[in-house]
Amino acid sequence: MNNRVNMFLAILMTASSFWITGAAQAGCTYATLPNPHPDGIGKSYCDRQISKVMGWQGAPWLERPQRLQEERTDLLIQKLNLKPGMVVGDIGAGTGHIAQMMAEKIAPNGVVWAVDIQPQMIKMLQKKADGLPKGRLQIQQSTEKNLNLPDRILDMAIMVDVYHELEYPRETLQSLMKAVKKGGKIVFVEYRAFDPDVPIKALHTMSVAQVQKEAEDLGLKYEKAESLSWQNMITFINP
Ligand SMILES: C[S@@+](CC[C@H](N)C(=O)[O-])C[C@H]1O[C@@H](n2cnc3c(N)ncnc32)[C@H](O)[C@@H]1O
Repeated sequence: MNNRVNMFLAILMTASSFWITGAAQAGCTYATLPNPHPDGIGKSYCDRQISKVMGWQGAPWLERPQRLQEERTDLLIQKLNLKPGMVVGDIGAGTGHIAQMMAEKIAPNGVVWAVDIQPQMIKMLQKKADGLPKGRLQIQQSTEKNLNLPDRILDMAIMVDVYHELEYPRETLQSLMKAVKKGGKIVFVEYRAFDPDVPIKALHTMSVAQVQKEAEDLGLKYEKAESLSWQNMITFINP
């Protein structure tokens, strides 16, 4: 009898240890890559190679006059449906090109929080903020895993051409989810993957399915995916 009980307990423990191990391994994880792509940082997340960060030296490309026609940034802003008084985040804001367009829409009493990790971008953002009414553009410097934003401050947040190059996408997205109000929106804008008409390096593109996989892994609720000329705009609701 005792032997039977012991055997039963042993089977139960083995089964539960499988379950626990399985649970710990479920979802998106990081991996170090033995043969990294030259445009990557040598690390993958959720089976996707993470790209290198676009350096501040690329600032003129973000501000190029033809960007409006090429990327239809006007359509992007229109689709966000911003309203006066909203508090919104531009995460990985770069030079503030998109943040400035958003700032016009949430005026006169809304705020755009523009966050970036590179000190040189922060300086450029500060210049943009100085040209706007005081408080319209709030600048925040992030660290690798933390956006350093106040909790539940944002009605909506956008990342334009940013998510694919986050060194710690999981922790950064978790930090963003804390900063966005419950029921608020998080919008990923990524260059379309596998599209020969999009003149962007492969590691700087993402498919809708990949974005969805990574966002849903953290509990974001998929709302919709829309097409711009070069990018997809994928919207989620913060639970
Ligand atoms: C390709 S640029 C896009 C800039 C801007 N969103 C635009 O479309 O004009 C990507 C930006 O993301 C920023 N970035 C990368 N990792 C970041 C992080 N962990 N936190 C905040 N910003 C980050 C980079 O410094 C860079 O300015």
